[in-house]
Amino acid sequence: MNEAKTAGLTGLEIRPMTIGDLPAVLELERECFSPPWSERSFRDALGLDYYHFLIAEYDGETAGYGGYIRSFETADIASIAVRKNLRRTGIGEKLLRRLMEDGYRAGVERFSLEVRVSNRPAIALYEKLGYHQEGIRRGYYEDPREDALILWTGGVSDT
Ligand SMILES: CC(C)(COP(=O)(O)OP(=O)(O)OC[C@H]1O[C@@H](n2cnc3c(N)ncnc32)[C@H](O)[C@@H]1OP(=O)(O)O)[C@@H](O)C(=O)NCCC(=O)NCCS
Repeated sequence: MNEAKTAGLTGLEIRPMTIGDLPAVLELERECFSPPWSERSFRDALGLDYYHFLIAEYDGETAGYGGYIRSFETADIASIAVRKNLRRTGIGEKLLRRLMEDGYRAGVERFSLEVRVSNRPAIALYEKLGYHQEGIRRGYYEDPREDALILWTGGVSDT
């Protein structure tokens, strides 16, 4: 059990991402994703109101981030990542819950996302928060090439 878990996540703050967060975000992005988003992509996203990105800060340091891209009543979870040494302490779940609360408040009705079929931690997190598989995209990811599961919240009858 690590420090954050024993501290019950006191010292964790979730807040909107700003340009000043980009160095830490890009470092984590490169560590977690292939291909990673570029600095330009994040800068562009932060200037657009249909993108919503949050930072999780633990004891004043960037612990993780996540964001969605909204299109009318649906939103796609673009990314969610937590620093390796702070995983399994509930930060990813808190980030995703907060993102979804913000989205629902803004009028989003359903969330979707793509996830590598081998990414068991992420799939478990999404399933815990009510996502279920509605499709698969063959060869969606590169480096390494892999299929993506397409997960959604809610159902067709809810829309
Ligand atoms: C996916 C990720 C964001 C999860 O963040 P996290 O802070 O470690 O997750 P949490 O501690 O909040 O866990 C919440 C739930 O997710 C699931 N989960 C998280 N990590 C897991 C793991 N390694 N194995 C199994 N389930 C896991 C569990 O259901 C857990 O609930 P529980 O603690 O009640 O069992 C983190 O593993 C990560 O940054 N991975 C690299 C980036 C990535 O792959 N992002 C997803 C791209 S689609």
